[in-house]
Amino acid sequence: MLQQPACMMTSILGGPGKSSKQPLKRVQVVLLLLLIFVVGEFFLQKQLSVNTTKLASCSQNTLTGLPKGDQAEPSVPILANSPTVHEAFGSDNVVHWDNLTDQLAPKGLRTSIDTSDGNDARFMRYGMSPLKNVCIRPNGTIVVVGLSEPDFARRLQEAGEAMVLEWKETYNCTWGCSGAAFEKETPENALWMTGTTTHIIPYLGNVFHHFAERVWPLLTGFRDPPDEDKSRLKQKNYYVHRMHTWLDQAHHNMDRNTFMFQIALLSRLAPPDTRPKFLQHSEHETRPMCFDTLMLSSAASGRMSPKSGIANFAPAMARYRQAAFDYFHIATPTVSLPPRPLRVTLYGRGDASRRRVTNIAQIAHYLRTSIQPPVLVTFIDELLQRRLYNQSLPEVVSLMAQTDIYITPHGANTWATLFMPKRSAVIEILGPCGPGTWISNTIAPALELKHRTDGNPWGERLASPRAGNTTDCKSALETPDFTIDVRKLQTELDSLRAIDGPGDALPLHWLFNWTRNSY
Ligand SMILES: *[C@@H]1O[C@H](CO)[C@@H](O)[C@H](O)[C@H]1NC(C)=O
Ligand SMILES: *[C@@H]1O[C@H](CO)[C@@H](O)[C@H](O)[C@H]1NC(C)=O
Ligand SMILES: *[C@@H]1O[C@H](CO)[C@@H](O)[C@H](O)[C@H]1NC(C)=O
Ligand SMILES: *[C@@H]1O[C@H](CO)[C@@H](O)[C@H](O)[C@H]1NC(C)=O
Ligand SMILES: *[C@@H]1O[C@H](CO)[C@@H](O)[C@H](O)[C@H]1NC(C)=O
Ligand SMILES: *[C@@H]1O[C@H](CO)[C@@H](O)[C@H](O)[C@H]1NC(C)=O
Repeated sequence: MLQQPACMMTSILGGPGKSSKQPLKRVQVVLLLLLIFVVGEFFLQKQLSVNTTKLASCSQNTLTGLPKGDQAEPSVPILANSPTVHEAFGSDNVVHWDNLTDQLAPKGLRTSIDTSDGNDARFMRYGMSPLKNVCIRPNGTIVVVGLSEPDFARRLQEAGEAMVLEWKETYNCTWGCSGAAFEKETPENALWMTGTTTHIIPYLGNVFHHFAERVWPLLTGFRDPPDEDKSRLKQKNYYVHRMHTWLDQAHHNMDRNTFMFQIALLSRLAPPDTRPKFLQHSEHETRPMCFDTLMLSSAASGRMSPKSGIANFAPAMARYRQAAFDYFHIATPTVSLPPRPLRVTLYGRGDASRRRVTNIAQIAHYLRTSIQPPVLVTFIDELLQRRLYNQSLPEVVSLMAQTDIYITPHGANTWATLFMPKRSAVIEILGPCGPGTWISNTIAPALELKHRTDGNPWGERLASPRAGNTTDCKSALETPDFTIDVRKLQTELDSLRAIDGPGDALPLHWLFNWTRNSY
């Protein structure tokens, strides 16, 4: 059988949790669940740590606000030495526009919107149609050729609501826009790109919104998987607005780093020989490029929407997550089975300015010492503080892949639940002000997560000086911090012992006898 981690036993102190009171039924349930899992999953578990660097130890470090004796290092090995985001945009998958001198755009181009496939069978399920014969200047301005602005506005109307919306949000606004120009003729010296290029304008809010607004529509919106030949408009290239700037900033800014990784993973959905390339140019490039087919950057259409249906978005997400595991050399994750303890990851948003959990260190201590079944706790705020973890995407994917129960306030980090084992659990704490969750109709059903929000185990409100210094729910930016109520949290944890269908391994941890160390 599997080895128990050396520090596990320190957590078995017999807390308030109780095992089932029906021994006969329990035995049947255990046998059933074991039959379903043990054989296949034990082998997967063994592979989990391959290619990772062990940081785990049971050192007795003390930290501000943390009782003596608590672990100060990750309870699970966090990945290091994985490919960098700059390697993800290496010479093998970048097309340098500076070098393309041979193909010049034809004279007499005229921009149009390709709605040829009919209204209900568009390029994308979210109602977006590609533009034909349109150009982009190296500074990002999109150039409509041979049509006046009013004429083009009418074409957008005819093409449908999604097109009007996308154009307004991304190409015809005053902030965060790439801008648009209208020219009578094909621009001078313009280069010519055949095939389908997708334009992506990185979102500068946070990694959640970047995924929800930019990546999700491209991931789940295509009528056919983008990596299959039958897709009507197979992607040939991505053109990321100001890519050299973001890659430059990605050296020191984890937000930029993550959104470039999020985009890099899109291209890795396809097998290596058909992988879309990234169009890149030097900062001095002056020549526009014209495209025979250009998909506009998505912004509002399909923003983390489940409307394409789980039959579509679940496999799309499975492909995306697998692309991440493959790229970062992480084995497909599974939920931990006894005698291995549950792996709990705890995050209090200590590095954010609002919706922070102020008593998170006490919660970490409670989980590490007082609950049954025993758990291994990885405490993100502590790792961040000690610079053992910096939320780079390979680290995030590695940690999430080794998390059986994720306890977190609502926030941008919840997009990464996408990388948790199937049928693991998330206790998402909305706090006194909400807002609601984005993952309950999307990531949670796709991965069959045991996702808990109803218990919402917050205790007290505390004014956050950097978020309006208020205990009222004034707005998303003026909102309080809060505490977690230990008893309510315990109730949420206990609710995970209920069996949610035949694939649910979590209840085994309540059925296992941790004193006798067997079922
Ligand atoms: C293309 O241009 C880039 C930037 O100017 C340069 O670094 C690269 O070596 C060129 N590649 C080829 C294949 O010529
Ligand atoms: C891009 O360049 C054009 C001129 O070539 C200029 O009119 C436009 O304002 C520039 N756009 C941005 C976003 O810098
Ligand atoms: C861009 O916005 C302006 C001002 O709102 C509007 O008059 C114009 O029609 C818009 N252009 C397009 C193509 O929608
Ligand atoms: C932080 O991020 C970089 C990638 O940008 C990575 O190489 C490094 O290992 C990360 N982890 C730590 C603990 O610094
Ligand atoms: C926050 O509010 C409290 C109580 O109203 C006040 O004493 C404190 O000075 C405020 N802090 C800031 C940074 O505004
Ligand atoms: C677990 O095993 C111990 C030792 O064999 C036994 O005393 C105890 O009753 C068991 N607990 C349960 C809940 O069955």
